[in-house]
Amino acid sequence: AQPKVLAGKTALVSAGPTSEPIDPVRVITNRSSGKTGYAIARALREAGAQVVLVSGPTALETPYGVTRINVESAREMHGAIMQQAATADIFVSVAAVADWHIANASSNKLKKNAVGEPPELQFAQNPDILAEVAQLASGPWCVGFAAETENLHEHAEAKRRRKGVPLLVGNLAQHSMNADDTTFILFDDDGAHPLPALPKLQAARQLVQAIATRLPRKPIP
Ligand code: C5P
Repeated sequence: AQPKVLAGKTALVSAGPTSEPIDPVRVITNRSSGKTGYAIARALREAGAQVVLVSGPTALETPYGVTRINVESAREMHGAIMQQAATADIFVSVAAVADWHIANASSNKLKKNAVGEPPELQFAQNPDILAEVAQLASGPWCVGFAAETENLHEHAEAKRRRKGVPLLVGNLAQHSMNADDTTFILFDDDGAHPLPALPKLQAARQLVQAIATRLPRKPIP
């Protein structure tokens, strides 16, 4: 059994892809499987935290003892996260949130026309959920993720500062996307701390220990 280092804490986790409607039958999404986020939700629960998992569409089973809220679009995920954020001590933002939604999504199925003109989709920016939660006055302690394909150190550290989070986990997308193993590098105020390549659940458990050691103690009211 894992030590209950997060007993009494509430953890909010976002996981999986988002799915942005084009019309009632078509969506734009990404290749996130949700495995990393679900492993982290499980590890947080093992560590004694109460866990709320806000998940985009995945094929995964809800980890034991975890409360799951299903969402599809980034804007739905934003709504669910903002609703839960006020009561969370920790927010781990693992979801691969789409950067854009389709501004001119159709309420009817788009049809091919006789002259073969394809539809023109217009994109509009989605809210940055993590950056917004990190700004909350008495919000949770935030952990961000950065899946990059190159220049991981520079991108991850820049992202950590831009989003204003104390801890950001970098990994190489080509090694971890849809894979069962992952290699985390933790970025915090002291620099970069690489973890070894591990099965996702073991990497998640190490991350949870790293969160527990960094989590500020709540002042006694
Ligand atoms: O902005 P970018 O996608 O590069 O940063 C990744 C981190 O930000 C992840 O922790 C992801 O969950 C979060 N994010 C978010 N809302 C967005 C985009 C990313 O919360 N719209």
